[in-house]
Amino acid sequence: MQEPQINPWSSTPTLDIGKAFADFGIEPIAPVITDLPDIPYFMRRGIVVGHRDYRPIVQAIRNRTPFHILTGFMPSGHPHLGHLMVMKEVVWHVQQGGNGYVTIADREAHAVREMPWEKCREYGKEYLACLLALGFEGQTYFQSRNDRLKDLAFEAATKVNFSELAAIYGFSPETDLAHADSVITQVADILFPQIDREPAPTVVPVGVDQDPHIRLTRGIAHKMRMFTVEERDGYISVRSKNARNTALDAVKKAFPHAKKYEGHVDIREARCADVSAKVRQIERECGGFAFYTPSSTYHIFMPGLTGGKMSSSIPESIISFYEPEAAVRKKVMSGITGGRMTLEEQKQLGGEPDKCSLYLLNLFHIVTDDNELMEIRRKCTAGEITCGQCKKETAERVVAFLKDFREKMEAAAETIEV
Ligand code: TRP
Ligand code: SF4
Repeated sequence: MQEPQINPWSSTPTLDIGKAFADFGIEPIAPVITDLPDIPYFMRRGIVVGHRDYRPIVQAIRNRTPFHILTGFMPSGHPHLGHLMVMKEVVWHVQQGGNGYVTIADREAHAVREMPWEKCREYGKEYLACLLALGFEGQTYFQSRNDRLKDLAFEAATKVNFSELAAIYGFSPETDLAHADSVITQVADILFPQIDREPAPTVVPVGVDQDPHIRLTRGIAHKMRMFTVEERDGYISVRSKNARNTALDAVKKAFPHAKKYEGHVDIREARCADVSAKVRQIERECGGFAFYTPSSTYHIFMPGLTGGKMSSSIPESIISFYEPEAAVRKKVMSGITGGRMTLEEQKQLGGEPDKCSLYLLNLFHIVTDDNELMEIRRKCTAGEITCGQCKKETAERVVAFLKDFREKMEAAAETIEV
């Protein structure tokens, strides 16, 4: 059996992003975002670094054509600062014209983390409160209560077998069925906006640990199509995968320079984009899904205050939204820095902000002004500030941030009915 390279359920998926790029074909995002009308801070600052197929999303933003933005959260604990990045990505894409969707993955939490349903509901609500506090507008749902989602998952399941799941996730004969079901439910989540609204490019912002799900979904979205459209030398080939003959006839009829063969239609003197659009329309009219293969973005993880991953299983590593001020101050003050061993060395060599959990906290969420952040960085690397002083200032900023955020969350919580 092939070893899985990324396990989305491991608690320590501290992955080398460069390696993930090379091994799995995730592409650096930098060359693609130059065409965006407005580059968000999380892309500017190198937090969101990779993508699959993000170009169609850039085009949709530029041309104001429909696109969807979807992500999901597993309600297996309280939300914390580590969850905010993906939420901000969703909110930003909605502001750029995307249709927003957020799924609460209670089926996954129940199947994989043995979370009782009542807890799923409680934590799920907290995630939704965070999202609303950030200004999210769009659809939200719990997996377990979305019947159309479950039907779509069943349909998608006709395209996957166990050896594929074994190859991707290392599933074994002992893996329980509900775990497999939660995987196909996530696949359905990612495709859901396209059945709920209309087929359109869909972007899923995730951490690199979720990439196996993205790869699986991209494969399934393709398998669920009736047709494939390919540009060949001098013509465009439309192949039927499981389309009825009448559907292929409709494709032929739509183009004057088309010739029908067994299982495919070849079209000359047409633009690939036009053929794709027409074929998609015909596929829908014939009852097909006409899915666009979903796109994704990948962000680096904000390190925990203790150095490793931010994880609820290490309470000192995280800052949660409900912690008292004094506890937050204490955590920040004892966070791992990129400071030197002695004050003398610090003055001479300066600190190392890129290794500092507090600098990264500022970079990710706390300091929104680029100039202010640059100034912190400059003072640090120039040895002009001690870590003690810098931590104190950071602690004040974090406390202020949380106070404001908590107020917004509380106001939002009142509007949530689940
Ligand atoms: N598996 C994700 C997690 O562990 C949650 C999730 C469920 C999700 N459905 C999704 C993420 C769809 C992105 C898109 O957090
Ligand atoms: Fe981190 Fe600040 Fe110390 Fe620099 S001075 S290493 S940013 S705590």
